[in-house]
Formats: sequence, structure tokens, C-alpha cells
Amino acid sequence: MSKKPVVIYGVTGYTGRLVAEYLREYRVPFIAAGRDGKRIKEVIEKVPGIENADYEIAEVEHSVEALTKLFKGAKVVCNMVGPFMKYGPEAVEASLAAGCHYTDTNGEQNWMMHAEKTWGAKFAAKGLLLSPGIAQMYTTGEIAANICLETPGLDTLDILVLWRGFPTYASTQTIFSILTADFFYLDQNQYVQWSPFAKAEVMVPGQHAVAMALPWGGTAHPVWFKNDPRVATCRAMGGVFERTVMEGVVQITQVVEDKIKKLPKAEAEKALSDMAASLQAGMPPRENPRINTSVDSVHASGPLGRVHCVIHGNCNYKQTGLLQAYAAYYLLQSPPLRTGFASGCQAFGHRQLLGVLQSFGLVSAPVVTHG
Ligand SMILES: NC(=O)c1ccc[n+]([C@@H]2O[C@H](COP(=O)([O-])OP(=O)(O)OC[C@H]3O[C@@H](n4cnc5c(N)ncnc54)[C@H](OP(=O)(O)O)[C@@H]3O)[C@@H](O)[C@H]2O)c1
Repeated sequence: MSKKPVVIYGVTGYTGRLVAEYLREYRVPFIAAGRDGKRIKEVIEKVPGIENADYEIAEVEHSVEALTKLFKGAKVVCNMVGPFMKYGPEAVEASLAAGCHYTDTNGEQNWMMHAEKTWGAKFAAKGLLLSPGIAQMYTTGEIAANICLETPGLDTLDILVLWRGFPTYASTQTIFSILTADFFYLDQNQYVQWSPFAKAEVMVPGQHAVAMALPWGGTAHPVWFKNDPRVATCRAMGGVFERTVMEGVVQITQVVEDKIKKLPKAEAEKALSDMAASLQAGMPPRENPRINTSVDSVHASGPLGRVHCVIHGNCNYKQTGLLQAYAAYYLLQSPPLRTGFASGCQAFGHRQLLGVLQSFGLVSAPVVTHG
């Protein structure tokens, strides 16, 4: 039973420790949870300023029963154990059973759809928030989209999300695992499947060179805007600035289509996981705002109007850690704006989340052009 109001599950990871760092800044007590207590202690003691944080360490088995026992007594679970399509269900079930709001950092469209369908109504019935995907990919782009939609009469979103840096171990596992999934954009309120080979050369605001973008598993945006009466069509593409990484993903997509999708599920999962591990087995360095930049660009259009919103930011993982910590801080004081399945902006408000990111120096003021 938790004696602190927030549980960070997967605290030993690159993102989990950033959530701990920002929860400390919000002065929110938390449980630092994961599968290996010794490793949690080693990792958490290196979090900057942790000596002033109010936290406890909890080693917990990855099962619904053990997680429920741990989460009971807490109010919010911040889950960082991904890929979520693989590891997420236990933590969601346990949050529901323990009566906790649930947030995670996923960018997996198939997980979003699965979570909404399986648990959305159950969380709503208990007045709880189910918010998978409070993270730079794709909350920052969602903020930009909502700024465009402050202008009435626009119904089409064309979204680009790019960041500069190298994905962590679990992020690389995630990028690879979603290659076997079907992914979708929204066209006149209907999901339409992307070709697995879809790619585009995109104009990047603020630079002359184009970049390569992929549907990146479809992104969360079509799911979040599916039942939004303002939006009928939503296509999002993205990835990382580093072209070699993007070319690598394109090559692997070909291998997935030619060989891996034909394997039995467990073998396919293992083959992809091994390939991902061969590319990223370690921890990337702590982010540097001079190097690790991000761009979220949204062109919104309608029959008679256009708005373009660009948010330049830095430190994708820090943005994610901060958004998670702020979500928990908010939920300890107030119910979300919407219960059940909801995005970050639907639960907390896009202007509010923008202000939070700006106040910590992680994004600049949005550049908005009309016409
Ligand atoms: N959308 C975004 O913008 C965004 C941003 C950041 C992160 N993410 C996502 O968030 C997830 C975590 O990312 P990360 O950067 O923190 O990755 P990471 O550094 O690799 O950390 C993964 C965490 O999951 C734990 N874990 C892995 N397998 C587990 C298992 N079987 N049982 C229990 N715990 C397990 C690890 O624990 P051990 O230390 O014990 O191995 C670690 O705490 C990824 O899926 C990533 O894609 C998304």
C-alpha cells in the first residue's frame, strides 16, 4: 500500500528519473518503483537535488496483483515501462483496481486505441483519468494543433513532429515494435490505413534543408482528434532529425514486411526486439538544450482559412518528464477537465500545458501565422 500520492513506475529509465526530478521541483512526494530495488537506489541517488525530495523506493513484480497492492493508497500512476502495447496492460488494470488516475509516456497509436476501447469507459465510470501519451511525442504537437483550432472554421490538421537526439533503449524497442502494427490517419472522421512504406520529404520551419518524415506508427493525433467535432481530417508525420536513423527505419520496414510479419507473433517480436537492442543497448547522455532540439509544426486549414503554428523546443525527454510531473501535480489538487480516456490537452488544457513547458524553458513562444 502506497503512503505517497504518486507512483513513478519504471523510475530507473531515462524518462522515469526525469519525472522524479520534476516531481521534486513541484514538491510532490512519490514512490520510486520498478522491478529491481537495488538498481532503483543506485539510479535515484544520482537524480539532481534528490536529497530534498520526499520519496520511497519500491521493488515490485510486473503483475496486476503486485502492482495493485503497491498502487493502493496512491492517487496517480505515472507509467514509464514501455513498449506499452507489450508491458502496459498490467499497470492500467492495477491503476483501475487501486482507484488511481493513469498516465504514461507512450507514442504508440495501437496502444492508444487499445487503451481507449478496453478501459476508457471503466476509468470514466470511476471518475478517473486514463491518459496514455502525456509526452513530447505527441502532447507538444497537440498544443500547437489546439492553438490553430482557436480560430474557428478550420477542420484539417497537417502535423509534423521532429526532434534531435538518439532514442533510449525502450524508445528504440518501441519504434521497432510499432512497425508490425497497422497505423492510421483520419480522413473525414474515418480512420484510413497508412501504407507501411509511406514517407515524405518535409519542409522544416526554421531551416532551409528538408527532412525525412514517416508516419511513425500513425502518432496519437488521429486518435485524440477522432471525436473532436472541430476536426475531420488529421495526418501526422515525424521522427528524428538524424537522417541515418530515419533511413535505418525505412530499411527495417522493408525487412519487417518481407520477412518478420510472416513469422509467428512471438518470433516476430523477438526478432524485432533483438534488432532494436543491437542499435541501442545503453543510455543516451543527459540532454543538452543546445543540441537536442524539437519542432512541432501544425498547418490547420479549412475552406476559407489557414493557420500555421510552430513550437520550437528542446530536450524531448525533459519535456516528457515535466509534462508527467505536472499532470500528477494537477491531479492531486483538482479533477481533470475530462475523465476516462483523454489526451493531455483534453485533461489539463493546451494553454496551461504550454505555459508549464515555457516556464521551465523547454519551449519558446509559439509562432502563429494566419492566412
Ligand atoms: N512519446 C515520447 O515523447 C516519449 C518520451 C520518452 C519516453 N517515451 C516512452 O516511454 C518508455 C520509457 O522510455 P525510457 O526512455 O524511460 O526508456 P528506458 O530508459 O529504456 O527505461 C525503460 C524502463 O522500463 C523498465 N522495464 C523494462 N522492461 C521491464 C519489465 N519487463 N518489467 C518491469 N520494468 C521494465 C526499465 O527497468 P530496468 O531499469 O529494471 O530495466 C526502465 O525503468 C518507452 O516506451 C518510450 O518510447 C516516449
